[in-house]
Amino acid sequence: MRKPFIAGNWKMNMLVDTGKGLVAQLKDRVRDVKGVEIAICPPAVLLPAICEEAKGSNIRVGAQNMYHENSGAFTGEVSGAMLKSIGCTYVILGHSERRHIFGEPDGLINAKVNAALAIGLKPILCVGEKLEQREAGRTEDVVGLQVVAGLYGVTAQQMEDVVIAYEPVWAIGTGKTATPSQAEEVHQLIRGLVTETYGEEVGQSLRIQYGGSVKPDNARGLLGLADIDGALVGGASLEAEPFSKIVMAAVE
Ligand code: PGA
Repeated sequence: MRKPFIAGNWKMNMLVDTGKGLVAQLKDRVRDVKGVEIAICPPAVLLPAICEEAKGSNIRVGAQNMYHENSGAFTGEVSGAMLKSIGCTYVILGHSERRHIFGEPDGLINAKVNAALAIGLKPILCVGEKLEQREAGRTEDVVGLQVVAGLYGVTAQQMEDVVIAYEPVWAIGTGKTATPSQAEEVHQLIRGLVTETYGEEVGQSLRIQYGGSVKPDNARGLLGLADIDGALVGGASLEAEPFSKIVMAAVE
């Protein structure tokens, strides 16, 4: 059985005080939750304060990005070693905003995935097609390539620490969610690809989150499907009530 995993991606939102306040409220609401893994991913500058606030609770902390070198002359970047040293567990890599606003190619994302695993961080590798790619019938090709390229060089043993998030670009922040069957179809494709490469055991234990306008009212329909093992939540993770309701939907 795969443990459902609900993660909040705060993107470039919140300040130290509002972020700490949100974690305090969340801790209260999800204190008794068992059987679901919970994480929040604040902006880099808030990470030390949020790691401190979340310490000892059932809420893990992740970063939204990292660079693949551990240190050196890389102005403006943050390394996996730094994230690890302050208590981060996860790191989101290859989010569609990194791919499409900041032009991150698959090769760079793959280097980051390998660097994260090497330092002991768990990558949440994001993949997903754009609307025009879906309409052109290219979803399978685009997502398949992102999965294969993103995982290049990752061993079967390291796959235990990898989470994949399927986030159709057209569903992110738009209020348009993929229908449960559209999402399930791509989740099956991803699990199939990973199974082909790494075998049945790795394929069956891989956690695949869905992301893109996940809200309390659509979470249950998505999370009920066989290959959807959780959600990567943007907008609805910025307040305690909707985010904790999505966590509760995963408990059920
Ligand atoms: P959204 O964002 O829930 O606001 O659509 C999801 C994401 O980008 O991870």
